[in-house]
Amino acid sequence: MLNFELDHEKCVGCGLCAADCPVAIIAMEAGLPVIAAENEDRCIRCLHCFAICESGAISIHGARVEESLSLDDNLPTPEQMELLIKARRAIRNYRNENLEPALIDRLLEVAWHAPSGRNDRRLMFTVVDDRKVLARLREEAMAVLSVLAGEGKFPPGMEFFADIVEAWQTQKIDIIFRGAPHLLVVSAPYDCASPLPDSIIALATFELFAQSLGVGTVWNGLAKITIADLVPSLRLRLGIPENHLVGYVMGFGRPAVRYARTAVRRPPMINRVR
Ligand SMILES: Cc1cc2nc3c(=O)[nH]c(=O)nc-3n(C[C@H](O)[C@H](O)[C@H](O)COP(=O)(O)O)c2cc1C
Repeated sequence: MLNFELDHEKCVGCGLCAADCPVAIIAMEAGLPVIAAENEDRCIRCLHCFAICESGAISIHGARVEESLSLDDNLPTPEQMELLIKARRAIRNYRNENLEPALIDRLLEVAWHAPSGRNDRRLMFTVVDDRKVLARLREEAMAVLSVLAGEGKFPPGMEFFADIVEAWQTQKIDIIFRGAPHLLVVSAPYDCASPLPDSIIALATFELFAQSLGVGTVWNGLAKITIADLVPSLRLRLGIPENHLVGYVMGFGRPAVRYARTAVRRPPMINRVR
């Protein structure tokens, strides 16, 4: 059921919804948009019809105009976006405190708006929102990694984890989680249209929004390998379903560092086709 509802008083019959539907299931009949019952299954729940309607005449899948954000002159400026993108950094130095739960909820809710292939939207956000829990998980992971190091049992190419374990054992330096108080693992069922890109895009969205709010983030390849490959008990403990691909992992929290300027990068390598 699509729950496609049209406010006949508001609809001006402009046809924008029909023209923008990516699966072309909206037809204009007698000047009004309709979706034939036999086409309902083809809807990908993207809500383009709802979003494009200037008069707010459409509701679908229960979406209400009052709950969405108006786009009239509300977008950040290009200069603000450029600064945010260039100012974003990997944070590896965190304050030893939890973020407020409402802030974490907000970050996750906004990241949930990231695009996904076929609009599958079947990602799972596994979040550690208490630094004490992450501290325990770190201990558990390091204990397993210590055994692997002791027995020389890291898979080929992963032998460098022995040094990571040693840094933890001898100096309590946390190279894996980078001392972040929180962790976000994004996973998706293998049978999604694009589980890996969907996960990465959600994390990239999460990161930019987080950093706009002064929350530090770090893409965490080492934690991803630890969870997905080296320490199966950690994956189990995190509750990531068996049929899920572990897309990627990000540490986050209040930064203990502040950067004064953006990086200066080499020009992009561009292959311009003429
Ligand atoms: C896919 C990916 C995996 C990464 N894994 C780690 C990691 O395990 N540990 C870490 O400290 N940084 C990690 N990083 C951060 C990169 O080292 C960092 O983004 C890069 O040095 C550029 O610095 P910047 O993010 O501050 O611009 C990762 C980044 C990416 C994109």
